[in-house]
Amino acid sequence: MNQKIKKILNKKNKSKIVSLTAYSKNIAKILDNYCDLILVGDSMANVLYGENDTHKITLENIIQHTKSVKKGIKKSLLVVDMPIGSYKNKKIAKKNAKLVKRLTNCDAIKLESNNKNFNIIKELVRIKIPVMGHIGYTPQFKKKFKIEGDTPFKIKKLLKEAKLIEKAGAFAIVLECIAPHASKIITKELSIPTIGIGSSINCDGQILVTDDMLGLSGFYPKFVKKYITLDRIIEKAVKKYTKDVKIKSFPSTKNYLNGRKYK
Ligand code: KIV
Repeated sequence: MNQKIKKILNKKNKSKIVSLTAYSKNIAKILDNYCDLILVGDSMANVLYGENDTHKITLENIIQHTKSVKKGIKKSLLVVDMPIGSYKNKKIAKKNAKLVKRLTNCDAIKLESNNKNFNIIKELVRIKIPVMGHIGYTPQFKKKFKIEGDTPFKIKKLLKEAKLIEKAGAFAIVLECIAPHASKIITKELSIPTIGIGSSINCDGQILVTDDMLGLSGFYPKFVKKYITLDRIIEKAVKKYTKDVKIKSFPSTKNYLNGRKYK
């Protein structure tokens, strides 16, 4: 088994799994010092490409960004989100997951559950492609952003789904927007780790979209904690640069290229 996956599995019931998303090398390089798991999420559709949902991201987009992220990673587990349509049946899923693995050298892929595609997880695991599941609010299959698992009936249904994903061979599972009581039960009942987003402290680990927690994306639902308002910091720098250019204090002679050295 991949040693990085083993490390994630060993954290269950011991220490929390720290995860964030990345779409580029420079961000991945910073995250890699702290994260156990870095996800190249299809959330890049909203965050980077300004789309209203995740549906317009292609496999080529995901591969391109993963190649960049991979260059910034030394120790974290690199997980790649399979975009909508790229795993709609076993044959397509196998072809695309193999392609992603071969072109990016990622550690694992993530599939959103539609409560039916367990056989796809099973097949990918069979051909030695590690899979992370994803239940609750799954933007590829659900239009409405709402809390999941908030009644006993819905908890039962989610738990059944989570157990089938575990049985299919997934090594971990993302719980998105799942009510605290439900995430507690699911986390307790599964032997694989749960990684929560908007699903309370009851999960084995947490994930956030990095641009959200940095205050860059403009999307701040209640479950996002903004650790910094990077938009304001960037604006301050750009404002200063604009002024410098206008008053001709940049470039100064310090920035002139003399001789053959450019550094
Ligand atoms: O695409 C993404 O960033 C995700 C996380 C929200 C888990 O799936």
